[in-house]
Amino acid sequence: MERVVRRPAKLAGVVTPPGDKSISHRSLMLNSIAAGEAHVSGLGRGDDVVSTMRCMQQLGATIEEGTHPNSVHIQGLGSTLQEPEDILDAGNSGTSMRLLGGLVAGQGFLSVLTGDASLRSRPMGRIVQPLQMMGARISGRHGDTLAPLAISGGDLRAIEYTLPVASAQVKSALLLAGLSAPGPTVLHQPALSRDHTERMLRAMGAAIEEQGLTLTLQPASLRPVDVVVPSDISGAAFWLVAGCCHPDADVTVEGVGINPSRTGILDALDTMGADITLENEREEGGEPVADLHVRSCQLRSTEIGGDLIPRLIDEIPVLAVAACFAEGDTVIRDAQELRVKESDRLASTASLLTALGARVEERPDGLVIQGMGRLHGATVPSYNDHRLAMAMAVAGLAASSDVTVEGAEAASVSYPNFWDHLNLLAGDSSN
Ligand code: S3P
Repeated sequence: MERVVRRPAKLAGVVTPPGDKSISHRSLMLNSIAAGEAHVSGLGRGDDVVSTMRCMQQLGATIEEGTHPNSVHIQGLGSTLQEPEDILDAGNSGTSMRLLGGLVAGQGFLSVLTGDASLRSRPMGRIVQPLQMMGARISGRHGDTLAPLAISGGDLRAIEYTLPVASAQVKSALLLAGLSAPGPTVLHQPALSRDHTERMLRAMGAAIEEQGLTLTLQPASLRPVDVVVPSDISGAAFWLVAGCCHPDADVTVEGVGINPSRTGILDALDTMGADITLENEREEGGEPVADLHVRSCQLRSTEIGGDLIPRLIDEIPVLAVAACFAEGDTVIRDAQELRVKESDRLASTASLLTALGARVEERPDGLVIQGMGRLHGATVPSYNDHRLAMAMAVAGLAASSDVTVEGAEAASVSYPNFWDHLNLLAGDSSN
């Protein structure tokens, strides 16, 4: 599917992006292994979350539509799941595959996990190796580093482990495995990554201690917890950047989760001089939430790296679009993890922005973007990567001529109504 995006005279309105993808995955998985019934509202309905839902159903959980849109009832099985009759397909979703890997490693049966071509090329050694240390028997392609993965789980032992990357997916996989491993599971993190798993596990009765960047989890049986999923800040980021770059914008993004481990995009845009205000700050279901109000501004360049990277890892492609409209050179470093996302996001972002007239230098661990205050139109691919499809749409909302996004349907991986929201804010139905 192709979408043509044209800069509207005005960008204005109020949107509520889908439920946070990370929290949605976790609400389904963790409640499936809790003993009892839970209600989840505001669930994200992107393809990735649907993959997790199907996998949990194959593992025996009952997940049914609730009475309100985007709400589900989950009847959890307690700590013992059922052996799936067929392979578990995580689709495009790294979170589904890695968290499920940890979950089924603790189950005394065989699970086979696979995914689409992109996911089958992404590194799985980062979960396989520590899960093998815990006693799970796992085989995979390419020396047990690539999916499909065959996991014979059960009888785990707790380990103390230093994560080689600041990855919430790896951390969560090991915490899920640790739930059934006698003894304390101790994880040392190189930097803070999103902590939704820790928060939810605590709310479900698990004992997790946090000392600096070290987490200690005791094995636990979980009690179900009702979850109110906030809007995804990673989805909100597209409208925040569009609002900053468009010359006449006034946009409110409602009910957005502002967990500090996720708000790197707000910090980065703030240093760039963005006009974003947080309104109606509140707490919903154990997560901080706010409405984000953005207006047009003149951005200036920034430097991002170090501990900020895990806090805005998924927002870097759209932040790179913002950098094109800023004054000065923006430097992004320490972001080599982007090379193993749904696409190589350093290479793909550099090539897409170059096609739109930007001057971008690709480095092994980042990008240097020369801010020229403008982009022009072009026809660009999405590389089947949802975040790139949406970042290119944002570029089109502010560029001097039309941006045609090929493979625009990729947005549905995390934001199924993205194009409807774009049309709403652009005030027309021609896009
Ligand atoms: C996620 C963690 C991040 C992020 C991904 C979602 C999660 O991946 O990029 O979109 O829900 O745990 P890594 O853990 O690989 O950094």
